[in-house]
Amino acid sequence: MASKLPRVGTTIFTRMSALAADTGAINLSQGYPDFDPPQALLDALARAVREGHNQYAPMTGLPALREQLAAQLQHHRGVRVEPDAEITVVPGATEGIFCAVMACVRPGDEVIVLDPCYDSYEPAIELAGGRAVHVPLTLPDFRVDWQRVEDAITPRTRMLMINSPHNPTGSALYREDLEQLATLAERHDLLVCSDEVYEHLVYDAREHHSVLQWPALRERAFAHFSFGKTFSVTGWKTGYCVAPPALTAELRKVHQFVAFVAVTPVQQAIAEFLAAEPDYPATLAAFYQRKRDLFNDALAASRFTLVPSAGTYFQLLDYGAIDQRPDSELCERWTREHGVASIPVSVFYQQAPELRLLRFCFAKSDATLLRAAELLCKI
Ligand SMILES: Cc1ncc(COP(=O)(O)O)c(C=O)c1O
Repeated sequence: MASKLPRVGTTIFTRMSALAADTGAINLSQGYPDFDPPQALLDALARAVREGHNQYAPMTGLPALREQLAAQLQHHRGVRVEPDAEITVVPGATEGIFCAVMACVRPGDEVIVLDPCYDSYEPAIELAGGRAVHVPLTLPDFRVDWQRVEDAITPRTRMLMINSPHNPTGSALYREDLEQLATLAERHDLLVCSDEVYEHLVYDAREHHSVLQWPALRERAFAHFSFGKTFSVTGWKTGYCVAPPALTAELRKVHQFVAFVAVTPVQQAIAEFLAAEPDYPATLAAFYQRKRDLFNDALAASRFTLVPSAGTYFQLLDYGAIDQRPDSELCERWTREHGVASIPVSVFYQQAPELRLLRFCFAKSDATLLRAAELLCKI
């Protein structure tokens, strides 16, 4: 049978994590913490299972959780969201994004994505029969060239995908970016799919700007969030999507036949945890900024050049002063020979420019980060 996704193979995250496991390298490739989530959250999950929260939740998510999420959005972003009509709990942001694309993109539609871009977007667009139109972020600081985005818009453009804070580069959109996005989206009547899974991981006193905070975007956007990132439980694969009622209704039509629901005890546990500790997400920026700085300080003596990371738990290292070979080749070679696994940045591009960048995840214990930095200093 001819593949519907002929260009898709096993993701780089799976391949690099497998190589790290095979070679015993420190795994700074895939983006997940190597430390435990808050104890109170683990206790809440154990209690939820014991107390019988083990059958299907409502398709849209547990009401208690959706109410907590509305309270969170009010608390952290100052936006009012209607929990029944506008919030859908999903089994991971990946599923939420897939459902949003499937619900809105028709055969022949174009969707603008900004390269380097997260690898799940384009397959979703293709499965919907659409075409991803790639616009590169500017170098060296990975910002959006809004004129270039506007130039890529055609009568077939249906949706624009954004991701801030940004994986893999660690850049984050500024207020004026959201203003430009709002102007463009209104002028060309576009939908916006906004991947905000790292919303709480923004550093150096910068703020996260959500599409939900701009009225012109609010009425045409899907905003996607992930508990995996916020609560250090990537394996729980649960998140949520916020969109206006009409878009939410369409997303749910797809969601109910892709996954139908997210895992019930996980939803119950997060609802209880957020009710008890509504300020927990606000502690994350300082926590991860310290880790970023620890890793970067330990790399000061290395031959790598640090690319400033404004958000996410990723740090890019430029190896241009060390070697000129392609990043995919070096990434594998250095995992085997120097014992630290990373992710090559070129794989996030349709057409990669001349880059010498590797992505390292700093959501790891201090000891792991220091040991990895020590090994990287020897390259
Ligand atoms: C930019 C981005 N979007 C979405 C996801 C997926 O989130 P989830 O695990 O909730 O599906 C990730 C996970 O790494 C990510 O980095």
